[in-house]
Amino acid sequence: MSRLLPEELLAALRRASRVVVFTGSGVSAESGVPTFRDAQTGLWANFDAMELATPDAFRRDPALVWGWYEWRRAVVQKAEPNAAHRAIATMATRVPTFTLITQNVDDLHERAGSRDVLHLHGQLARPYCQGCNQPWTPPAQPSLEASGGTRVDPPVCPECGGRVRPGVVWFGESLPEHEWLAATEAASRCEVFFCVGTSSVVFPAASLTSVAIAAEAVTVQVNPNPTDIDGAVTWSIRGAAGEVLPRIVAKAWGGD
Ligand code: OAD
Repeated sequence: MSRLLPEELLAALRRASRVVVFTGSGVSAESGVPTFRDAQTGLWANFDAMELATPDAFRRDPALVWGWYEWRRAVVQKAEPNAAHRAIATMATRVPTFTLITQNVDDLHERAGSRDVLHLHGQLARPYCQGCNQPWTPPAQPSLEASGGTRVDPPVCPECGGRVRPGVVWFGESLPEHEWLAATEAASRCEVFFCVGTSSVVFPAASLTSVAIAAEAVTVQVNPNPTDIDGAVTWSIRGAAGEVLPRIVAKAWGGD
């Protein structure tokens, strides 16, 4: 990986009044949270998405699905934010209007100090009743810590007796409206757009980069591996987010 950061990118950042950072699971990889599509370590290399991450899967086998998300909640709870999460939180303090959009269901951005994070795919810590939509507060300790294949019955809603479901967006479901509108608005108005740690294959989230490109923003991808959008962005920086982002922040603004 080149150690050099484009001077033009640093200058664009210093000038920018609106910056967007759009993250995927790769930003949490250095915290020990598995990505989805990395060979061998990715969740979808080890589990079948259609058995775990669809409304049909939850109807068929609610305990398998609930147990899998409780396991993921336990993994996230044990993880700590990494240098990439912290650099993004610092960047927010350097830019007049900063928007952080994530596909991640973990809370590592918030634990690193980021505020008003737009979670396009929901959050592990926000289950809700599928009958009456009431939020359901999960116990501080997830109910299992062993593996991703253990069955745990989902809770029953105290309000209506309905079944509580994980607070994430499944395949085939719509993105939350407020978050999606805010994200597309921010992408269409920013001057610099970062796309960090995502394979950019899941839509509509992945289309945000195209929105920023159409708006003539400077677009920057940070990823150790090639992706389909390498040729479409202004700069594709090959490297781990926890290494590249702190360098960008330090070079652009000094400190940190
Ligand atoms: P993927 O697993 O598809 O992609 C993760 C990306 O992170 C890959 O391109 C890796 O090369 C990159 N990566 C790995 N380590 C990294 C590091 N240290 N620094 C930077 N990048 C790194 O995960 P997502 O793109 O987040 O959706 O997946 C998008 C959506 O697909 C998820 O939100 C989830 C999944 O199915 C739902 O559950 C609805």
